[in-house]
Amino acid sequence: MVADTQSLNQAMTEFEQQDSVWLFGYGSLIYKADFPYIERRPARIEGWVRRFWQGSHDHRGTPESPGRVVTLFQRPEAVCEGIAYLITPKAFAHLDHREKNGYLRYRVPMIFQNNTRAEGLMYVANEDNAAYLGEATEEKIARQIAQCRGPSGSNREYVLRLAEALRSLNEVDEHVFAIERFLRSE
Ligand code: SIN
Repeated sequence: MVADTQSLNQAMTEFEQQDSVWLFGYGSLIYKADFPYIERRPARIEGWVRRFWQGSHDHRGTPESPGRVVTLFQRPEAVCEGIAYLITPKAFAHLDHREKNGYLRYRVPMIFQNNTRAEGLMYVANEDNAAYLGEATEEKIARQIAQCRGPSGSNREYVLRLAEALRSLNEVDEHVFAIERFLRSE
C-alpha cells in the first residue's frame, strides 16, 4: 500500500520562520542531494539504527513490486553516521515530496565530527506507515532488492551507492554491508 505523508509534513510550519535548518540524511539523502544547501557536513546521531525495512513504491520500486529502502529505529546503544545539510525552509517543499512514501519529519540532536552539537530534522518512516514492509533476513531483503526498479532507478543501485557512501564516511553498517555482499555475489 502507498502512504502519503507529504501533507502531514507540510503542516509542520514551526521552521518557516528560521533562516536555516539542519537536515540529517542517513540513506539516499547522503549521496543524492538534489536540493539546494548552504553547507554539508558529516554528522552522527545516537540511539538510532538503519534498516532496509521500508517499502519504496515511488522511487526504487512500484506499487505492484515495492523495493526496499532504509528507515531508522530506536536502539539505545546504536550510533548512526550520516550527512548534515544546512538548508533553508524553502527546501522542504521538495524534500517532503521526495520522502512522501511514509516518512515523517523528526527533530534529532546531531553531533558533528568536531563533537559540537546542533538540533536537526530527519525523515523517518515508522512501523505505522502504510508502505512499511518490516523485518526480514538480509538474504531475503537482498533477493527482493535485486528484482526491483522504479522511477529513480534500480533498487540495487540504491544499496550499492549507500554502501559506498558509508564507507567514505568510515561507517561500518553490518546490515547494509551484508545486503550489499548478497547483491554483489549474485
Ligand atoms: C534519508 O536518506 O535520510 C531518508 C531515507 C531515504 O530517502 O533514502
